[in-house]
Amino acid sequence: MSAPDGVGPSEGPGRAEGAVPGARRWAVLVTPVANRVYAGDAPRLLAAELVLVLGAGGRPVDVAVEQVAGLPYVVLSSPGDLDDRSRRAVASASTAHALFERRALPDGAEALVPVPLPAVDLYDDDLLTIPKYPGKTNEHVTRLLLDLAVAALEEGPAGAVGGAPAAARRLRLLDPLAGRGTTLHLALMAGMDATGVEVDAGEVDAHRAFLVRWLRTKRLKHTVDAGRLKVAGAVLGERLRVEVSPSKEAARAGDVQVLEVLRADTAAVGPVLADGSFDLLVTDAPYGVQHGSARAGGRGPAGAGAGRGGATGRDRGGRDRGPRDLLERALPVWVPLLRRGGVLAMSWNTHVLPRPEVVALLERHGLEVLAAGEDGALAHRVDQAVHRDLVLARRPGRAPAAAAG
Ligand SMILES: C[S@@+](CC[C@H](N)C(=O)[O-])C[C@H]1O[C@@H](n2cnc3c(N)ncnc32)[C@H](O)[C@@H]1O
Repeated sequence: MSAPDGVGPSEGPGRAEGAVPGARRWAVLVTPVANRVYAGDAPRLLAAELVLVLGAGGRPVDVAVEQVAGLPYVVLSSPGDLDDRSRRAVASASTAHALFERRALPDGAEALVPVPLPAVDLYDDDLLTIPKYPGKTNEHVTRLLLDLAVAALEEGPAGAVGGAPAAARRLRLLDPLAGRGTTLHLALMAGMDATGVEVDAGEVDAHRAFLVRWLRTKRLKHTVDAGRLKVAGAVLGERLRVEVSPSKEAARAGDVQVLEVLRADTAAVGPVLADGSFDLLVTDAPYGVQHGSARAGGRGPAGAGAGRGGATGRDRGGRDRGPRDLLERALPVWVPLLRRGGVLAMSWNTHVLPRPEVVALLERHGLEVLAAGEDGALAHRVDQAVHRDLVLARRPGRAPAAAAG
């Protein structure tokens, strides 16, 4: 498949080898993934991801999946060397384990020459991998979502990220269905500030307990502040605010990242968050089925088909059971929180809400749905009840000059 001009649809299978005249050839080793179902799809998903993120850089690149000595690789060909941006894109791709250049040897065989990749994570990745709980979003999928969202942001109208690398200004991410914070933690690792909204007190408590323990164990300079979340004098829920620096040098330089969690119904947080204050909204919507196993903490499992059931579609804890009613209620709140040119990236279960309905919903609420994934390249099976897909959309308009930093 060829990288399109921007974050658009892929163009179907293609040849990596020799497809670009005078091309150099590369092979990305796919990370071994413990989840066997996801492992089966990981090479294809990584190929689709690389088509989109490398294409967003505007360079022609051909991408395909190939077995080399029995191991899955995503092979690329592109003219000239991979520039810094492309190497960073490969390094942060969801299941990219290592990069090699493919060189022909005089005897006709081929050598894979290791190519160093830049370190892109600001924190140890056990921030993502230690927590294991029912309902956790697979961290590879979370990386895929965030990676595509950032690529779409960089592709956006001039000024989307100030036309400069994301580092020019700290990006702000919102996960309005945060669970125990997989997306928020990944955003921290990518150097962003992150805000999460989660209605379930059990999830918020477990998240806080883990994060505080982890920060102490890693001896990272941080502060934790918790209190009530109030709107016009009325208590809406709770607020947790963590400030952290990734290293002693960063702390000395005053480089502080903020992670906030609001325990509240996601459709009620409009008054506590500033309009246009987020660059990215990245989330994994409830699957509308009993996924994996019943949730811990005495919370009633949603039950198969619950996405359509009930007068409100919500359980006694206020959690939405499925994506349809939730999106109808929440999108009017979420969309204004994104700045103009900002990007929404969401995964959801297509068994309870088919893609055309998600697209229609997002468009009805004023978002411009991007072509990424419309060809099915990002869809994959999770289990019998869940078939997950990813969608990307942008809030139309240019970023105001002040926000573009
Ligand atoms: C698929 S899970 C997200 C999991 C998360 N990415 C993680 O890895 O922990 C969806 C989350 O949405 C939360 N949720 C459902 N309805 C909500 C609502 N109305 N307001 C806020 N959170 C809600 C659920 O409690 C659940 O934690």
